[in-house]
Amino acid sequence: MSWFQPEPAVSLDLVHRLEVERSTAVVDVGGGASLLVDRLVGEGYGDVTVLDASEVALAEARGRLGPNTSVTWLHADVLSWRPDRRYGLWHDRAVFHFFTADEDRSAYLRCLSAALVPGAAVIVATFAEDGPERCSGLPVSRYSPGELAEVLGVGFHVVESRREVHTTPAGVVQPFTWVAGRTT
Ligand SMILES: C[S@@+](CC[C@H](N)C(=O)[O-])C[C@H]1O[C@@H](n2cnc3c(N)ncnc32)[C@H](O)[C@@H]1O
Repeated sequence: MSWFQPEPAVSLDLVHRLEVERSTAVVDVGGGASLLVDRLVGEGYGDVTVLDASEVALAEARGRLGPNTSVTWLHADVLSWRPDRRYGLWHDRAVFHFFTADEDRSAYLRCLSAALVPGAAVIVATFAEDGPERCSGLPVSRYSPGELAEVLGVGFHVVESRREVHTTPAGVVQPFTWVAGRTT
C-alpha cells in the first residue's frame, strides 16, 4: 500500500483541468482502495465505475461508500475485460506500469480504445523514469511524460503532463509521471 494517497489531489486536479462534466461516465481502472471514487461522487459525478482485479480492494472501497451510491464495482482484469458500454473518462493511477510485456501493453490499449467514446478524457499515472523499479513487489515499466504519451499512441492528444513526488507512509519518495489528454 506504499502508493496509497490520503487525498487523490493530482487526479482531481487533472479531472478539472480536462473539464470533465459531471454527467460523464467515468472508469477508474485498478482503482483499488483509492479515495478517488469517494471524491468524484462527492463532487456530483453520478456515473462512476471502479474496476479492479482484487475483490479485497473493491470490497474495501465499497464498504467505505456504503450501499447507497450509484457506483458500479467491476471485478475484472483490465487485460481481458470486454467493456459492454462506453466511458468518457479513463483514469489509471499505478496500474499501466505493471504491464512490462508488449502483448500486455497492447491488450491494455485495445481495452482502453474499446471502452472510450471519441474525444474521451484519459488520465494515466505511472512511476517516473527515476521512480522505483518495483511496485507491490512486482517489476514495473517506468516512463517519462514523452514516453508515456508515445506509448498511449497517436490517437491521444496530451493536454497536460506532470511529475509528482509522492511520499509513502514510510517516508520513501515515489516519483510519478502523469499524462492527461483526450482521444481523437
Ligand atoms: C498500485 S495499486 C493502485 C491503486 C489505485 N489506483 C491508487 O492510486 O491508489 C494497483 C491496483 O491495480 C490493480 N490491478 C493490478 N493489475 C490489474 C489488472 N490486470 N486489472 C485490473 N486491476 C489490476 C490492483 O489490484 C491494485 O488495486
